[in-house]
Amino acid sequence: MITVVGATGNVGGPLVRMLAERGADVTAVSRRAPDVAGRHVRADLAAPETLRPAFDGADAVFLIVPGAGGGIDPHAVVDRARASGVRRMVLLSSQAVATRPGSAAYAPMRALEAAVERSGLAWTHLRAGGFASNAYAWLPAVRELRTVAAPFGDVGLPIVDPLDIAATAAAVLLGDGHDGRAYELTGPALSTPRSRAADLASALGTPIRFAEQTRAQAREQMLRLMPAPVADGTLEILGAPTVDEQRVSPDIEKILGRAPGPFAAWAARHVAAFR
Ligand SMILES: NC(=O)c1ccc[n+]([C@@H]2O[C@H](COP(=O)([O-])OP(=O)(O)OC[C@H]3O[C@@H](n4cnc5c(N)ncnc54)[C@H](OP(=O)(O)O)[C@@H]3O)[C@@H](O)[C@H]2O)c1
Repeated sequence: MITVVGATGNVGGPLVRMLAERGADVTAVSRRAPDVAGRHVRADLAAPETLRPAFDGADAVFLIVPGAGGGIDPHAVVDRARASGVRRMVLLSSQAVATRPGSAAYAPMRALEAAVERSGLAWTHLRAGGFASNAYAWLPAVRELRTVAAPFGDVGLPIVDPLDIAATAAAVLLGDGHDGRAYELTGPALSTPRSRAADLASALGTPIRFAEQTRAQAREQMLRLMPAPVADGTLEILGAPTVDEQRVSPDIEKILGRAPGPFAAWAARHVAAFR
């Protein structure tokens, strides 16, 4: 059995479907019950004993933790997995664990990676760059004002489609030869906030105005959704990416045998939400 934690999210949702389509025995985990078919266990990573019904009998676990840590004790989660007899852990992590080793924003993810590595379980880290689905933050302004407001409009990053992360996770969970590996998951090319707004406009078939925010404006907006260290860490990457953060990684193509999709493909699939 494979247990997917974060099973109703951008990555976990498609991952559960992909594993089930390939005949895997899947248990989906989230705090709220989803309105979909299949075995689901309601559990909270912040209360590890609640994970027991989902971890008992699982051979492998796909794990995400909220970016800010969410009050989760990584050792308690890993101990629970080991006590339940889990043998493999595939962790959705962040590229910034490697590219920003001193940053407080990524400390919870670093701690979880370290706990998994020390656990004695087989592990694979999927260190993702920025998700295409972060464009959901633009949803109200696109719907109501046909405007995208974002900082650093011309700074390019190889944004990755969560569907490609899910496909990679499925290949890792169902395949061999991935133990002890940390993969870097990016999209196929750099895109900028301005070019992504243009991709959304093309998908919608209507013009979208791009309004460049100052760093302070963006920070104020982000603080409504995330703690200050996470907002500041994210703004550093968005505004002043390192050479490594702007590098297109070959890892998705190596694992899937095909290139990852561009932001335009994500926009085309999700355009209905922006109408
Ligand atoms: N966005 C980015 O650019 C980016 C980049 C690199 C890495 N990441 C990492 O990717 C992950 C987010 O992935 P995503 O976009 O697929 O997530 P998402 O769409 O926000 O979904 C989060 C999922 O996790 C579940 N969840 C949240 N807190 C939980 C808890 N305490 N216990 C059990 N389940 C919980 C949620 O369901 P319930 O709320 O019902 O529990 C939901 O199923 C984070 O770890 C983030 O650090 C993101």
